[in-house]
Amino acid sequence: MNTMLYQNRRAQVAAQIGPRGLAIVPTAPEQRRNRDADFPYRFDSYFHYLCGFAEPGAWLVITGTGKSILFCQPKDLERETWDGYRLGPQAASAFLGVDEAYALSELEARLPGLLDGCDNAWYPFATHSGLEARVQTALQNLRERVRYGTLCPGGQQDLCSVLDEMRLIKDAQEQDTMRRAGQISAGAHIRAMQTSARMLRAGQEVREYHLEAELLHEFRRHGAQSPAYTSIVAAGANACVLHYRADTALVRAGELVLIDAGCELDGYASDITRTFPANGRFTGPQRALYELVLAAQVAAIAATHAGARFTDPHEASVAVLAQGMLDVGLLDKDKVGTAQDVIEKRAYFQFYMHRTGHWLGRDVHDCGAYTEPSELGHTSIRKDALTGQAIVDRPARILRPGMVLTIEPGIYVRPAPGVPEQFHHIGIRIEDDAIVTQEGCELISRGVPVDTDAIEALMRA
Ligand code: GLY
Ligand code: MN
Ligand code: MN
Repeated sequence: MNTMLYQNRRAQVAAQIGPRGLAIVPTAPEQRRNRDADFPYRFDSYFHYLCGFAEPGAWLVITGTGKSILFCQPKDLERETWDGYRLGPQAASAFLGVDEAYALSELEARLPGLLDGCDNAWYPFATHSGLEARVQTALQNLRERVRYGTLCPGGQQDLCSVLDEMRLIKDAQEQDTMRRAGQISAGAHIRAMQTSARMLRAGQEVREYHLEAELLHEFRRHGAQSPAYTSIVAAGANACVLHYRADTALVRAGELVLIDAGCELDGYASDITRTFPANGRFTGPQRALYELVLAAQVAAIAATHAGARFTDPHEASVAVLAQGMLDVGLLDKDKVGTAQDVIEKRAYFQFYMHRTGHWLGRDVHDCGAYTEPSELGHTSIRKDALTGQAIVDRPARILRPGMVLTIEPGIYVRPAPGVPEQFHHIGIRIEDDAIVTQEGCELISRGVPVDTDAIEALMRA
C-alpha cells in the first residue's frame, strides 16, 4: 500500500477545508440482495480515493489541521470466520498511515467531540443515504451542550466540491492503472469478436451471453475485480437500445454486434465500445455507417487536447455526423437542408441522441464539473430547437492534462418513414478512453482496433 499517496490526498483536503473544518467520509454500505445474501461489495469511490481501504463498515475523518482518523470494523474472530479478514483499528494506523483508528462503534460518541469548535462540517452531499442525518445528530448533540461550552459548527459544506476537482485530474499512478484497465478490456473485446466469428464459422449457435462470458473471463483472468458497469452485448437491432444488457438473443451472421464493456481494475473503470460484424464481414450499408461514425470519432479525437472545451469533441462529432447523414441519405437534403441546418434544428438527434463523452475514472461516469469553474457567471440563454425549452448555457470545462474522458459517437437507426430500409436496425457506437495531454490526447483503449479492415483481419485470425 502506497500510504504516501493517500496521505498527500488527505493533506490536500485538509488544506482546502481550512484549519477549522472537519471532513467526514463514510465508505459504501453493504447491500442486501435477499435474505442473508449480499450484492458483491464495492467501496465508496471518495473514501477509497482518500485512504485505499476496501473493507465495508468504515468512516474516515480528516481534521483541518491535517489529522486522519479511521473508524473501522473491530477484529472479531467469529465474524472473520464467516466474512473474512478484518484489518481492525490496531493495525490500521500503521497499514494505512492514518493518525488514529477506532472501532466503528465509537463513531457516534467521538463525532461530536471532533466537530466541537469547528466552523464547518464537510461531507459528501447526496451520495450516502442516511449520512446527513448522522451528521445532524452529532451537531444536535453539540448544540444541546452549549451551556457546557461546546461550539457547534455554523456551516455545512459539500465535500464533493473539493474531492471532485481533485479526482478530475488523474495523477501518474491513476493514469497507469487506467492504462492497464484499458489494455485488459481491449483484450476482452478482441476475444469476444474472435469468438463470435469462430463459433459462427463452426456452425455453432451464438448468443449474446456467449460473448459476455468471454468478456468476463478475460477481465478476471487478468486480475480485474469486476466489470465497471453492466456489459452491453447487443446483437442486431438490440444495438439501437442504448442501455441494453447482454441477454439471450441470437447473434446472426450478417448482423452487427455492439459491445460496450470495460473492467474495473483496482478501483478504476475502463469503458470501451466496439461494433463488429458477427461473422467478421461488414456489409455495404453497415460499412457506410461505420465509416461515418469512425470519421466522427476521428474528428472528436482531434478536438481533444489541453485548452479545448469539454464540448468541442461533441461538436466536432456532430458536424461530421450531420454532413454524413445527408450524404448517405439518412436525412433528406430537400427536407432538412444543409449540414448547418441539421445541426441548428438538431435533426441529427433522431439517430444520435447522446453526448460524445463523459469523465472517466473511479466511476464510469466519473465526478467532476462539466462547466468551467472560472467562468461560472458567464451564462447565456438559448431556445432548444427540438423542445422549444429555454436552456441556460454555461461555458464548458476547459480540458487540462490528466483529465480522462471517453470519446464515443454513434448512430442508431430505428425504422421510420423516409429512412432507407438498408440502414434499418443498425446501431453503431465506437468508444475509446482518452487521457488529455498538452498536445492532444492519449487513447488508452486502442489495444482493440477500430478500422474496418483491421477488425475483419482479426476476426479471420
Ligand atoms: N458504458 C456507459 C457509457 O458508455 O457511458
Ligand atoms: Mn460505454
Ligand atoms: Mn461511456
